[in-house]
Amino acid sequence: MPIDGLRLQSFRCFDREDIALDGPAILKGPNGSGKTSILEAIYLLARGRSFRTSRLSNLIRAGEKVFGVESNILIQSESWSVKAIFENGLKTFINDRDSTAREVGRLFPLTLMDSDVTQIILGGPERRRRLLDWLMFHVEPETWKVWKLYRRALLQWQWALRSGMSADVWFGRMMELAPVIEESRIRLMASCLPFWDHAASLLFPGQTFSFDYNNGKEAVARASLSEGSQEFLPDGSTVVSRSPGLQRADVEIRSGQKPVRQFFSRGQAKLLALALVWGGSRFLSLKLETCPVLLLDDFSSELDEDAQFRLLGLVREEEIQVIMTSSSLSHVSIEQWPHGLFHVEQGHVQMVCPC
Ligand SMILES: Nc1ncnc2c1ncn2[C@@H]1O[C@H](COP(=O)(O)OP(=O)(O)O)[C@@H](O)[C@H]1O
Ligand SMILES: [Mg+2]
Repeated sequence: MPIDGLRLQSFRCFDREDIALDGPAILKGPNGSGKTSILEAIYLLARGRSFRTSRLSNLIRAGEKVFGVESNILIQSESWSVKAIFENGLKTFINDRDSTAREVGRLFPLTLMDSDVTQIILGGPERRRRLLDWLMFHVEPETWKVWKLYRRALLQWQWALRSGMSADVWFGRMMELAPVIEESRIRLMASCLPFWDHAASLLFPGQTFSFDYNNGKEAVARASLSEGSQEFLPDGSTVVSRSPGLQRADVEIRSGQKPVRQFFSRGQAKLLALALVWGGSRFLSLKLETCPVLLLDDFSSELDEDAQFRLLGLVREEEIQVIMTSSSLSHVSIEQWPHGLFHVEQGHVQMVCPC
């Protein structure tokens, strides 16, 4: 699995700490003990930034001037030594050679899920589309380039409409590019479906779900009849925007014919969102022949004990390295989770032994 050991130096509340992470892991411990900081260190290695602060100097342990994070990245028996050191600026090294976090990020796909994860289910379509775009970025880089061109054309088109200039050329460009992106999204969704079904059946026994791609064209047609979609031009005239709908498309999820978004609790939404991200990661693991890393912060919050055990059943499967934190896990013993159970307390990490 990609993360094969983690070494922290003067990072947040850690002085010098070697953590024997080498597979799926649970980091448990009281609030403020350093659990999220460990996920933050892994994220920093792969992305070159933090998910909690835009000032990397905040990550230096109080009283120190430099921090370091180091790991061995193990993929299909090939191993890379990856290091990030911050002193005035961030420097990243692969096998002791200067590199960028982007290069480290290319070694394995990494996803972070925190308390915001419920929005994938309860929020607007944008969060669900982002899931498909994330898959596109990893497995269809050529379509990803088309997607970037489309977004540029969309901005130009909106700008031309607002400035009262002819927008036809940008509209034509969007119409030309949209089918490529749409076909990719439909293809990606079809590839993920078996994994989404598998994850949902483990997490929601006895409940069935349908996942459908809605291309947004109905929404565009509906909106075209309403005032909301009219663009007001500087000369006082209006035009009706007829965009191809890509930015209104949605992954519609139903259970018993009803959209889950309308009746799911936050706990249920969290579980289903995890099923979607896990399924997407599982698809990536097959397609890219690599092992994705999923960081799951505070995984037990909002989930009852049954739901937590079902989730542990799913994430112990081998193809994804899931690293989770929890502050309330007294009921999970080493017998139930024999993979990697770590106790974190005041900046120290101890592996719980399978004695
Ligand atoms: N730069 C820093 N230097 C020293 N301690 C820090 C620094 N940044 C954060 N901390 C401390 O690190 C501790 C760990 O925070 P965190 O990883 O969020 O804990 P957890 O996720 O276990 O609740 C907190 O007590 C916080 O005060
Ligand atoms: Mg935390």
